[in-house]
Amino acid sequence: MQAIKEVVKHARAFSSVPAHFDRKVAVLGAAGGIGQPLSLLMKLSPYVSELALYDIAGTPGVAADVSHINSKATVKGYAGEDQLGEALKGADVVIIPAGVPRKPGMTRDDLFKINAGIVRALVEACGKHCPKALLNIISNPVNSTVPIAAETLKRLGVYDEKRVLGVTTLDVVRAKTFYAEKAGLDVSKVDVPVVGGHAGVTILPLFSQAVPNAANKLSEADIDALTKRTQDGGTEVVQAKAGKGSATLSMAYAGALFADACLRGLNGDPDVVECTYVASTITEVPFFSSKVKLGKNGVEQIYGLGSLNDYEAAGLKAMLPELRSSIEKGIAFAKGE
Ligand code: NAD
Ligand code: LMR
Repeated sequence: MQAIKEVVKHARAFSSVPAHFDRKVAVLGAAGGIGQPLSLLMKLSPYVSELALYDIAGTPGVAADVSHINSKATVKGYAGEDQLGEALKGADVVIIPAGVPRKPGMTRDDLFKINAGIVRALVEACGKHCPKALLNIISNPVNSTVPIAAETLKRLGVYDEKRVLGVTTLDVVRAKTFYAEKAGLDVSKVDVPVVGGHAGVTILPLFSQAVPNAANKLSEADIDALTKRTQDGGTEVVQAKAGKGSATLSMAYAGALFADACLRGLNGDPDVVECTYVASTITEVPFFSSKVKLGKNGVEQIYGLGSLNDYEAAGLKAMLPELRSSIEKGIAFAKGE
């Protein structure tokens, strides 16, 4: 019910977003499990005036369907490589959920073989056709696909580290849900920063910094269980779907939240802060997810980690070797090594 209220509120709000904030959003992989509901949610966004839906096939149908919704954005479908440039031209934000999802027993890194090449090709096209767009990279393994995107744009001479963002919002969405449920809190009033990357132990929720603080209600064992459930949230869905893919609906929701945050930043909203996986110097690895202020040029400020308790500090130390190796793997791939 709350979700429906949010959608209705959004749909009503579009009349209050001034026309000079007209924004084009492109979704690459729009006919997929994430792509379709994400396209629906972006059609409902008050911040979108033009929606370009690209996939290798199937987008004319998705676009025709979504275009009948009576909200502001005009919608066009683009199918096949020869239409990719047109889909990207003039885009302010490009959301990339293209690629294969996991099956039970696989790690996200097992997707590298197929998805690395898909992301490189799509980002190359972004570098050529919309080099100033903010890229929201959803395709896994995010810990490697974001470095691939960065290196690909570097090679084209158009890399701006403020504009390449890995989407880790689903980890935050999960941490909020699980924390609120366990502590008996109103989930709509809960916030939990999640830092690191987007795979297993590289996902580190900072429950010591959660708002509101429920330390008196949760034991160390509770926090350990919540941390592990957040780290394994993706696997929980992969197993429940039993071979039919990974999270699509919750990811579409998280992807739409993050894209809207990027658009609000571009429009000059002074107060947009999200966790996202970006080029960063706050740890010893060159890409890291933490709280970031989003503004007119993308990443405006990267916040530090704040004070970590011993459990979180150990989690940070434990994740860095895996994160570093995923980053190096992505960079080497994009360099053709
Ligand atoms: P899916 O198979 O349902 O859809 C993927 C879509 O990508 C398909 O429509 C396919 O045609 C399209 N595609 C493939 N190659 C393409 C190309 N070269 N250009 C354009 N489109 C192309 O998969 P899904 O469930 O939507 O998941 C997509 C990706 O998102 C996976 O890699 C998955 O692991 C990842 N994912 C990430 C998160 C996250 O939190 N970042 C969460 C869930 C899923
Ligand atoms: C998720 O966290 O749900 C995604 O990264 C998909 C996956 O493979 O778990």
